[in-house]
Amino acid sequence: MCLQEKLDEYFEWFHKNPELSYEEYATTAKIKEILKTEGIGILSCDLETGVVAVIEGEKDGPVQALRCDIDGLPIQEETGLGYASRYAGRMHACGHDFHIVAGIGCAILLNERKNELAGTVKIIFQPAEESSLGALKVLETDTLEDVEQIWGIHADPTNEAGVIGIREGYVTAAVDRFVVHVRGTGCHGAHPDDGIDPVPAASAIVQGFQTVTARNINAFHPALISVTRIEGGNTWNVIPENAVMEGTVRTMDRKDRVLIEKRMREIVEYTARAYGAEADLEWIAGPPATYNDGKMVLKCAQTAKRCGFQTVPEESSMGGDDFAFYEEKIPGCYMKIGTGKGQLIHQPGFMVDKKVIFPAAQYLCALFVEND
Ligand code: NI
Repeated sequence: MCLQEKLDEYFEWFHKNPELSYEEYATTAKIKEILKTEGIGILSCDLETGVVAVIEGEKDGPVQALRCDIDGLPIQEETGLGYASRYAGRMHACGHDFHIVAGIGCAILLNERKNELAGTVKIIFQPAEESSLGALKVLETDTLEDVEQIWGIHADPTNEAGVIGIREGYVTAAVDRFVVHVRGTGCHGAHPDDGIDPVPAASAIVQGFQTVTARNINAFHPALISVTRIEGGNTWNVIPENAVMEGTVRTMDRKDRVLIEKRMREIVEYTARAYGAEADLEWIAGPPATYNDGKMVLKCAQTAKRCGFQTVPEESSMGGDDFAFYEEKIPGCYMKIGTGKGQLIHQPGFMVDKKVIFPAAQYLCALFVEND
């Protein structure tokens, strides 16, 4: 069986067997089994799920890494594919099955071309990207200590197979979560003067938040605050004691991220006080924005051309990727590989065009072996 056929078969297996974040046991076992069969080295590191393959070139050169995330999503698949998920309510709807096989294909090709490879390549099959924190599991090990640069890929259903989206600078946003607790004093709905109503205070806080992005942030900088849940009270004639809100903040620029948190804390505290209530803001930091290194972007573009891919400017997104955690330590480049136009990621009909798998593996291999 040729490599292309093998990769297609592996892809179908992974697509059929999606596992959620931190539960990727069968996925990890299958990747390890394939790597062993192919005679590819596995780095010993303390990962509960996930695995790192290592290919040492015969020439001197840098240590580089490729990140391929491996988890699926809690979505009921509706693709109608013959190799659709065998589990109800679980699906590879973000193309991480494609990332796995592109990484495996790259490992196999690099292993065959060790004599041309200068340096070492670590292929990180990373768990739990969908939790936004899986990269931290890898960073807790010493896997990245000697790595000088890292590459990341993502399936892109807005482009046809054969197209790669790349861009220098910020490509995905920092993803932070917040929870606001507003505390008042409950009382009869007919006698609001007997208590402190947390509901108008909470409403004023929501309004106040919108002024942060509109009035405090440079209009050329992407930034947003979404309040996605607001809760207070449980009936029509009682003023509740508390109200809770939560939501997400998305930013590209580091300074904007710090400023927004500061302004939100001020708005929460002082607005609540102006209404006679009390409130605090809990800030749960997620990954920062991914930032594509200029030199690496250039190399992507040159390699893509050599491999017969067309390149287009990558769309920036206010979505996030925990790949950014690696980039806090080392330069990185996150690119989008066209997987055929269709339903977007995280949708039940999302599909990867299988004809992109083998060329993607060849392209990734070329990033490492054909150094100019
Ligand atoms: Ni994804």
